[in-house]
Amino acid sequence: MSPLAASLVRAEAFAQAPRRFPPVAMPSLEYTPEVAAATAHLYERVKTVIPAIEWPVFAPYVKAINDLKKVRNAVILAHNYQTPEIYNCVADVVGDSFQLAREATKTDADVIVQCGVHFMAETSKILNPDKTVLIPDSRAGCSLATSITAADIRALRLKHPGVPVAVYVNTTAEVKAEADICLTSGNAVQVVESLGVPEVMVLPDQYLAAWIASQTAVRIITWNGACEVHERFTAEELRGYREAEPGVVILAHPECPPEVLAEADFTGSTAKLAEYVKNEKPKKVVLITECSMADNVMVNAPETEFVKPCNLCPHMKRITLPKILESLVHMRDEVLVDPAVADRARLSVERMVNLKI
Ligand code: 13P
Ligand code: SF4
Repeated sequence: MSPLAASLVRAEAFAQAPRRFPPVAMPSLEYTPEVAAATAHLYERVKTVIPAIEWPVFAPYVKAINDLKKVRNAVILAHNYQTPEIYNCVADVVGDSFQLAREATKTDADVIVQCGVHFMAETSKILNPDKTVLIPDSRAGCSLATSITAADIRALRLKHPGVPVAVYVNTTAEVKAEADICLTSGNAVQVVESLGVPEVMVLPDQYLAAWIASQTAVRIITWNGACEVHERFTAEELRGYREAEPGVVILAHPECPPEVLAEADFTGSTAKLAEYVKNEKPKKVVLITECSMADNVMVNAPETEFVKPCNLCPHMKRITLPKILESLVHMRDEVLVDPAVADRARLSVERMVNLKI
C-alpha cells in the first residue's frame, strides 16, 4: 500500500465526528444569458488562454462554484499548476506551496477546498485541525510524497545521529511528524541556514537538495526522491531552446536535475519564477516546470512571449471544475489526519511558517 493510501486509511480510523453540512442540490449547468453576464469579467482575465468557444463549457461551473463558496463559507486555495479556469476564475488564493501553507493559517472560512495535490491539503488540515478541508480528488498524489516514509526518517536519524531533518512540504503528514522543520522550494536555503549547524538532512528530493547544496556552505545529506515531472527535463532540451529561440530567458524549478539547472538563467520556486517574469519583463521566456504555470503567468504578462514546453503533472490535473463543484455539493473528499500525527507535524510546519525570512 502506498504511503498516501496508508495515511488515508489511518486517518479514517481517527475520523473526527464529521461536521454536518446542509444538503444542497446540484446547480443547473446551462450556459444562460445570466451565466454569461455573471462571468463576463472572469472571461476577460483568461481570454488570452481560453478560446471563446470553450467558455460556455466552463462558465456554468465557474458561476455555480462561486455561488456555492458563499453558501458553504468556503475558500479555494489553488496551486500555481492548476489550470487557468481554476486559477483565475474560482480560486481565492493562489501561489506556491509556501504561500498556500501560510495563507491556510489566516483564513476564517469554515471550509478549505484545496486545488492542488494531497500533501498540500494535508498541510492545510494540519494547520487548521478544526476546519473541514476538502480535496476534489484524493487520488491527486505526488511522486516525492510517496518516495519516503516515517520509518525511513527514523532509520536515517540512527545513521546520522544529531543531524537535523528538514523535509520538503511535498511529504505525508507522518513524514512531517518525524522532521525537525519543513521547507519549500521558496524558502529552502534560508530554512537550512536558519538551523545554524554544519550539516542538515534535506529529504526526500535529491535534486532540490543538490540545488540547496550549491547555494550554501551547509553540508547536505539527502534521499533518492525525485519529481516525476521535473526529472524529465534534459540539459539538451534547454540548449535546444537557446538555439531555436535567440534571446530566450530560461527559468527553471529547483526540482530539475543539476545539469538542467546549469543551463538555466534563474532557478526558483513557482512563485519566484512568476515574480521574475513580472519584475524583469523578459521579451521571451521559457518556464522549465509544469505546463499550466506558463498559462497562469502569461495572463499577467502580455508583453512577454512564452515558449511552452509541456510536462504535465498528472496529479495536479486530476483537479477539474466539475470535481470542485462536486466537492462543494457533497462535501468530499474530506482530508483527515490522525490528531496525534497532526500535532507533531504541525510543529515542523509552524517552525517553517514562523521563520522571519
Ligand atoms: P512550489 O513550492 O515551487 O510551488 O513547488 C511545488 C511543487 O509541487 C512543484 O512541483
Ligand atoms: Fe509532485 Fe512533481 Fe507533481 Fe509537484 S509536479 S506535485 S513535485 S509530482
